[in-house]
Amino acid sequence: MERIIKVLKDCRGKWVSGEELARLSGITRAGVWKRINQLREMGYRIESAPRNGYCLVGIPDLNPFEIRDGLKTERFGRDIHYQDVVDSTNRLAKRLAVDGAREGTLVLAESQTQGRGRLGRSWVSTRGKGLWFSLILRPKISAADLAGMTILTAVSMAKAIYDTVGIRVLIKWPNDLVYQDRKLAGILAEVNGEADLVNYLIIGLGLNVNQEEDDFPPELKQSAVSLRMIHGSELSRRPILQEFLSVFEGNYAALSNGGLAKIIEYAKSYSATLGKAVRVNQGYHRTVTGEAVDLDGDGSLWLKESSGELLRIYAGEIIENME
Ligand code: BTN
Repeated sequence: MERIIKVLKDCRGKWVSGEELARLSGITRAGVWKRINQLREMGYRIESAPRNGYCLVGIPDLNPFEIRDGLKTERFGRDIHYQDVVDSTNRLAKRLAVDGAREGTLVLAESQTQGRGRLGRSWVSTRGKGLWFSLILRPKISAADLAGMTILTAVSMAKAIYDTVGIRVLIKWPNDLVYQDRKLAGILAEVNGEADLVNYLIIGLGLNVNQEEDDFPPELKQSAVSLRMIHGSELSRRPILQEFLSVFEGNYAALSNGGLAKIIEYAKSYSATLGKAVRVNQGYHRTVTGEAVDLDGDGSLWLKESSGELLRIYAGEIIENME
């Protein structure tokens, strides 16, 4: 299949006869016809005319062949599980991880019927409008070091967005991406293993790309934003994903050589949290309030309470910016 796509792409916008297509891709003419139909089902727009042959006029945004084409990574995003609809990419990724899928496997879908957010919430994953994906990781770290992994993910996506679209987004501790206080992306990390050894880690990321205001449900209209709403026009999701995979792979590789320090520096420079008075939900109905003063080297947040006491917070979620 990849051969025929390549030939069509090499002649993009020009007609290629069935005979030539068969010769250049090394398959029979009947095989060409069958594959052309399969490609159309996958979202490739291929025109055909009896005397001219075939002409490629449009390629799908998130097809695995297209994601791999031009991908600069060695491992991340090389194995791709792509589905039109899935319950949750995190859930599917877990099943694949249990079955032995290798590190770097990418699971993505055009829509999720049960997209999951943190703290048991759901994640709205409108068809074709965003990047809804999960990565399977097998890091050689203990569960205590996992906070760094989610910050690494947030930083990698923030950088990928800047590199590809030129939009500077901020990181809301611990791992949301926001733009002018509205949520653009969220991360859900789920781990399997023992305290001192991670078996597999699933990092799920949802990025709002092409929604318009009316695509969000009423309860999210004020608090959510998409790249399109910021940029002003529709964007291709593929380059953002490819760049993310490449930045992520580099950051992940650097972790073992003290690379987290640089990542934390980035998270500090583009933080939506530091310097603000915040309320943090730590689960089990426990909240703390104070001024967010610093990020520690492991990604934990230092909060200054009104008493002046410093509190180190390893996990939680900011539920309110109080200014
Ligand atoms: C949050 O901010 O609450 C985390 C949202 C994470 C959503 C992503 S979308 C892809 C992956 N699959 C899921 O079911 N959830 C994550």
